[in-house]
Amino acid sequence: MEKGIHKVFMKPEEIPTDVNKIFGPMGQFREFMMMYSSAIKEVRTKFEILNDDLAVSYNRNPIEMIKSRIKTPESIINKMQRKNLEINMNSLMYYIEDVAGIRVICSFIDDIYEVANMLVSQDDITLVSVKDYIKHPKPNGYRSYHMIVEVPVFFANRRQNMKVEVQLRTIAMDFWASLEHDMKYKKEIEGASEIVAQLKECADGIAAIDAKMQAINYSISEFGK
Ligand code: GTP
Ligand code: MG
Repeated sequence: MEKGIHKVFMKPEEIPTDVNKIFGPMGQFREFMMMYSSAIKEVRTKFEILNDDLAVSYNRNPIEMIKSRIKTPESIINKMQRKNLEINMNSLMYYIEDVAGIRVICSFIDDIYEVANMLVSQDDITLVSVKDYIKHPKPNGYRSYHMIVEVPVFFANRRQNMKVEVQLRTIAMDFWASLEHDMKYKKEIEGASEIVAQLKECADGIAAIDAKMQAINYSISEFGK
C-alpha cells in the first residue's frame, strides 16, 4: 500500500487532535484525504495509460516508476501558517497546491517532456503552472520538471476540480534528489559546505550523463530503423 493512500484509512483515533481542531469534525478531514487520494489515482492512471500505449504502439517504456504521496496534516498546517493563510478547507484547497504529489521517474530527459505534454494536452487536464528546473536548475544543482495540474474527480454526488503537483525527473536526478533531501535535515553535520559542493558537482555530472545517455539511445533507435 502506498504511503499517501494508506492515510485515507486512518482510524479516527489515529488522526492528530490539533488537526481535528483545525479541519473541524473528523469526518471532514477524512473526506479531504479521500479527495486528494482520488486525485492522485486519476493522474497516476493517466500516466500508466500513456506508458502502456507507448509500450504497445511504439515499443517504448518512457516511465520507469511512479511514486505518490499525500502531504501530512502537520506539514499542511505548517505551510499554511508560514504563508499566513486562514486555516480552513477553502484556503487549503485554493492556495496549497502540493497536498497531492506524484513523482514520475523517466529513463530519458526527452521522455519527461513528451509524457508531460501528453498529459497536459488531455482535455480534462488544466495546467496551472510549470517550473522547469531542468532547463533552469536550482543553484544547488536540483533538476526536475514541475507542474501543478487540475483534474476533475467525480465523487458520489459531485464533481470537484483537484490540484495535483507532478514532478518529473530522470532516474539519475531522482537518485541525486533523495541524497540531497537527506542533507536538508542535517544542516549542522561536519563538513556541510564541502558536501554541498560535492552534491553540486554530482548534479552537473548527472546532467552530462543524462544528455549522453539520451544521445546513445537516439543512435540505437535510429540504428534499428
Ligand atoms: P515548497 O514550498 O517547498 O512547495 O516550494 P515551492 O512551492 O517553491 O515549489 P517548488 O516547485 O520549488 O518545489 C516543490 C518540491 O520540489 C519540494 O517540495 C521538493 O519535493 C522538490 N524540490 C524543490 N527543490 C528541491 C531541492 O533543492 N532539492 C530536493 N531534493 N527537492 C527539491
Ligand atoms: Mg512542496
